[in-house]
Amino acid sequence: MNLKAYLRSRQKQIDRALDRYLPRTKVKPPTLHKAMRYSLFAGGKRLRPILCLAAAEACRGKISNALPLACALECIHTYSLVHDDLPSMDNDDYRRGRPTCHKVFGDGIAVLAGDALLTIAFEIVSMAKPARRYDMSTLLREIAVAAGSQRLIAGQVADLEAEGRDVKRDQLRFIHENKTAAILKSSVRLGAMSANADAKKLRAITQFGRALGLAFQVVDDILDVTQTSEILGKSAGKDIAARKATYPAVIGLEKSQAEARRLTRQAHDALSVFRGGDAEPLHALANYLLEREY
Ligand code: IPE
Ligand code: IPE
Ligand code: MG
Ligand code: MG
Ligand code: MG
Repeated sequence: MNLKAYLRSRQKQIDRALDRYLPRTKVKPPTLHKAMRYSLFAGGKRLRPILCLAAAEACRGKISNALPLACALECIHTYSLVHDDLPSMDNDDYRRGRPTCHKVFGDGIAVLAGDALLTIAFEIVSMAKPARRYDMSTLLREIAVAAGSQRLIAGQVADLEAEGRDVKRDQLRFIHENKTAAILKSSVRLGAMSANADAKKLRAITQFGRALGLAFQVVDDILDVTQTSEILGKSAGKDIAARKATYPAVIGLEKSQAEARRLTRQAHDALSVFRGGDAEPLHALANYLLEREY
């Protein structure tokens, strides 16, 4: 399969849908809607929505049923980045190849744009057409729990509290599992749910998502030390400067690379229940996430 073309066409599809869901910049309050769109349309890789659609494909569902869920996930992800970059959090000036939201709009509007991106995600989920096995409350709960105080936010809290501390491997795993893997796991689960996946396939997709999500953050930590800001589109070398708990800091670069490979292998193995070429995009995405340069 031609992954480059696949990614490009999915990104376009997702961008078009997001553009339909987001209020125009002229709608009151224009500053807020400009800030939301500024961060959302800054050229993110759209991995979470693409994974959501690929999981729907693997379970032979319709892309149109997964698309609102995919867009909601990207809104939540973007909100988490806008807040993650704030001076009171990671204090980053550069994101998705441009100045961060708070650099352009100020801290107050960036906080509010994040709030609004998080909230609109639930409005967008409410427009999805649930499948027989997974009703609307199941979909809403899936995304609310993943983004909530015991998952994404718990991970962000642990990440902040670990700064400058001597962190053990299990604490580091807790940070990654929650701040990053929870949303990636829910991305593929929601895709599978939109396709009315049976219990066995949903279980496989869940295992895939967890392993992939963990691998993803290990690679993010590695890229922060090995890559340039220009290529990343965000400031490189920030983790060491902020004394963040990362895989390279705790176990070294080589072992981190081995860990990312091991987790990616686990992700591939989880997909063995799928027949024919159904899971081919998921396999290709797992390889791409491991080998990516940004
Ligand atoms: C960055 O995510 C934040 C992490 C969870 C590590 P991505 O690398 O997916 O960022 P974008 O969406 O492409 O900007
Ligand atoms: C971000 O982790 C995770 C979330 C935004 C939830 P990082 O702080 O490592 O992400 P980057 O490196 O700033 O993109
Ligand atoms: Mg952070
Ligand atoms: Mg950060
Ligand atoms: Mg990082």
